[in-house]
Amino acid sequence: MTQDFKILDVELGARSYPIYIGSHLFDHAAIWALPSSSARAAFVLYDEAITVFAESVVKPALQKIHPKIFTCAVPSGESSKSMAQFESCCAWALSHQIQRNSIIYAVGGGVIGDIAGFVAASVLRGVDFVQIPTTILAQVDSAVGGKTGLNMPQGKNLIGAFYQPRLVLSDLAVLKTLPQREWKCGYAEILKYALLGDQNFFVWLEQNAAKFFTGDHGVMTHAIETSCRMKAAIVKADEREETGLRALLNLGHTFAHALEAAASYDGRLLHGEAVGIGLVLAARLSHELGFVGADVPDAICTHLKSCGMMTEISDITPKLLATADELVVLMQSDKKSHAEGINFIVLEKIGTAKTHFVSDFSIVKKVMTESLNHGA
Ligand SMILES: NC(=O)c1ccc[n+]([C@@H]2O[C@H](COP(=O)([O-])OP(=O)(O)OC[C@H]3O[C@@H](n4cnc5c(N)ncnc54)[C@H](O)[C@@H]3O)[C@@H](O)[C@H]2O)c1
Repeated sequence: MTQDFKILDVELGARSYPIYIGSHLFDHAAIWALPSSSARAAFVLYDEAITVFAESVVKPALQKIHPKIFTCAVPSGESSKSMAQFESCCAWALSHQIQRNSIIYAVGGGVIGDIAGFVAASVLRGVDFVQIPTTILAQVDSAVGGKTGLNMPQGKNLIGAFYQPRLVLSDLAVLKTLPQREWKCGYAEILKYALLGDQNFFVWLEQNAAKFFTGDHGVMTHAIETSCRMKAAIVKADEREETGLRALLNLGHTFAHALEAAASYDGRLLHGEAVGIGLVLAARLSHELGFVGADVPDAICTHLKSCGMMTEISDITPKLLATADELVVLMQSDKKSHAEGINFIVLEKIGTAKTHFVSDFSIVKKVMTESLNHGA
């Protein structure tokens, strides 16, 4: 069979692993070579929303290489990243006599990848796991880089481990069932990579975004591959977020997390939607701080609007009932911030970002106030 998929490597010495990107990946026996072993039992945790894909595409493919397969549907949604769901997944694996040489498959978006990855890191002190991301956001971001974790009442992703998968299989065909709103969420993360690290990629996105949203195979493959390549390079250089480089991946996220918290995670604002608005706000902050001209936030806004995405806090419906002061307080309670100031990721130009410590919040409040009142 001809190879019509791309392979990238996340280079981390003994913990290196490949990412496969293509359509109908599961038809290619070669992709299973790395983790397969006839002695291994497979434990598949999947998002209940993609039961058909998990049971009728992934499972039959796994049956060719694993002697035993156990599957478990996990409820969709952020609430599954809980201690209770973690316990239930561990209990399920242990009740089926999971062994150290067993392998866990995470089939779903970032929620399933994060919880299944943490189960894999924890059960029997760690068993191998494979990421089969089924959202664009997971394919370009959460499935790559080894962050796993759970939410706590005190905040998101506060419990977890750095635990790398053995393989990432990004099948473009599964995205056909993904709602358009989730496509836009994934696209915000793709745009993030262009803004923080590759000006040419931004220009390419401006020219190809419309095709991306029609599901053009070549365009999607290039966008996902380029994003994964950038994430892999950053993870290689700063796997555990120690040198500051990996922090650049938080471009737009300090704003986004505050907006999500202000919207009480009630469904009116998905994470990727908040990231889209956050990218605009981060660019405006960069402008107010004198790092870029007004043309940079304007170009980002224009592009997001052309994709039918939100750009202002005032675009959120129902309206976000928060003031700029309240949003700054939420930013200060983010786990990467502290009371004296906040490390923002700012742009130096499209394609170059850096960390900048802000202790005078008046500029941040100005940027947020303008976006809260935009169009009023
Ligand atoms: N580990 C990391 O590095 C990292 C990075 C970014 C985000 N995250 C985490 O990822 C999560 C967000 O990920 P997400 O956006 O993929 O959310 P998600 O996993 O909740 O998936 C979004 C929605 O799409 C549905 N879905 C998934 N695949 C589908 C498909 N192919 N067809 C139809 N529906 C499908 C899900 O049921 C869900 O309703 C958050 O918990 C976030 O904290 C982790």
